[in-house]
Amino acid sequence: MSQFVTLTIKKVIQETPSAVSLVFEVPAKIRSDFHFIPGQFITLKAKVNGQEVRRAYSLSSSPNDPDIKVSVKKIADGTFSIYANENLKAGDQLEVMVPEGKFKLQPQPNKNLNYMAFAAGSGITPIMSMIKTVLTEERNSKFVLIYGNKSSTETMFFKELLQLQSIYPNRLFLEFIYSRENTDGARFGRIDKSTVNFAVKNKFKDISFNDFYLCGPEAMITTVKEVLAENNVSNEAIHFELFTATETAKATNSGETIIHVVLDDEQAQIKADKSITLLDNVLKADMDAPYSCKGGVCCSCICRVVEGEANMPVNNLLTDAEVAEGLVLACQAYAISDSVKIDFDDA
Ligand SMILES: Cc1cc2nc3c(=O)[nH]c(=O)nc-3n(C[C@H](O)[C@H](O)[C@H](O)COP(=O)(O)OP(=O)(O)OC[C@H]3O[C@@H](n4cnc5c(N)ncnc54)[C@H](O)[C@@H]3O)c2cc1C
Ligand code: FES
Repeated sequence: MSQFVTLTIKKVIQETPSAVSLVFEVPAKIRSDFHFIPGQFITLKAKVNGQEVRRAYSLSSSPNDPDIKVSVKKIADGTFSIYANENLKAGDQLEVMVPEGKFKLQPQPNKNLNYMAFAAGSGITPIMSMIKTVLTEERNSKFVLIYGNKSSTETMFFKELLQLQSIYPNRLFLEFIYSRENTDGARFGRIDKSTVNFAVKNKFKDISFNDFYLCGPEAMITTVKEVLAENNVSNEAIHFELFTATETAKATNSGETIIHVVLDDEQAQIKADKSITLLDNVLKADMDAPYSCKGGVCCSCICRVVEGEANMPVNNLLTDAEVAEGLVLACQAYAISDSVKIDFDDA
C-alpha cells in the first residue's frame, strides 16, 4: 500500500527567497504510475537528522509536463521544508509515493467551464497545476485566480503566471493581494470577506463559475467557503485542500482492544491501545500502513471499519456519506469496542 519508489532530483529551482521547486525525473517504465490529476499530491520520505519523515506536497507541474515537480515553502522550525530548501540538490534521491488525493480538477476538453481559485502562500501549488492544465486542455474555459502573499517577491510562480496571462489574456485573470506591500496592480491586505465579495459580485460578476478551488490556511478557507455560500454557491461546487489543520483528534477512549488489520491482501491481529490512533497502533505493530500528514488533512491513511466501532473526534475531510459507510482516517480514529476490524485495501 505504501508504494514508494526512489526518484532522482533533476533540478532545484529557487522560486522565491523562501521556496524551492524540486523537479523529479520519472523513468519511462514507471511513468504511468505517476500519472496524476491536477490538484493531487505526492508524499516524500527522507531521513532528516537521523529521523524518517514523510510529508505531502501537491504537484505544481501539469500532467502534460515531462517531469513532475513539487514546490516547498520554508516553514519556521520546519523539519523537511528547511531541509528541502537548504540541503537538497540535483542528483539527490528521495523516496516518493505515487500521486493521490481527492482535491482534483479533471479537465474536460470539450467543455466550456469557468473556475475561480483562492490561494494563499504555498497553497498556489495544486492550483498552478490546474491553471496550466485548464489553459491547454479546455480551450474555451476561463480561470480566475485570487492569490494572497506577503509581497511580490514572496509570490511563488509570479513571473510564470504573468507570462501565462500574456499568452491567454481572455482566459486567465489574476488578482494579487499583498499583506506587506502596497503596490499598483495589486490589492492590499489578505483574502477576506471583502475580497471574495469583490471578486464574485463586482470584478467577475459577468462570469458564471462552475467550480471554486481553495487552498491555503484554514482561516482563509473557512472565510471563503462562508462568503461563497452567502453568494449562493452550492457546497458541491466548492473544493478545498488544507495543508495543515489547527485541530487534530485527541483520544476520548482508554483500555485495551484487538485490531484485526487487512492490509496489502494480508490479515493480522494486533493487541492495541484505545487511547492511541488506529494508525499508530498499526505502525507500532510494524505494519506498513499508508500515511502521510498524520494530521487528518491528506486522506492517505483512509481505511474502512468492517466490524466493531471506532470514532473520529475531529474530521476535516470525510463527507457524512463516507463516514456513514464506515470510512475513517486511521490517523484520527480511535477504537471504541474491544475488537475492531479495519481494512485498508477496501477504502
Ligand atoms: C495534501 C497536502 C499537500 C501539501 N502541499 C504542499 C506544497 O505543495 N507546498 C508546501 O510547501 N507544503 C505543502 N504541504 C505541507 C507540507 O506537507 C508540510 O506540512 C510542510 O512543508 C511543513 O513540513 P515541515 O517538516 O517543514 O514542518 P514540521 O516539522 O512538520 O512542522 C513544524 C511546525 O510548523 C507547523 N506547520 C506545519 N506545516 C505547516 C504549514 N503548511 N503552514 C504553517 N505551519 C505549518 C507545524 O504545526 C509545526 O509547528 C502539504 C500538505 C498536505 C497535507
Ligand atoms: S495521514 Fe493524512 S489524513 Fe491521515
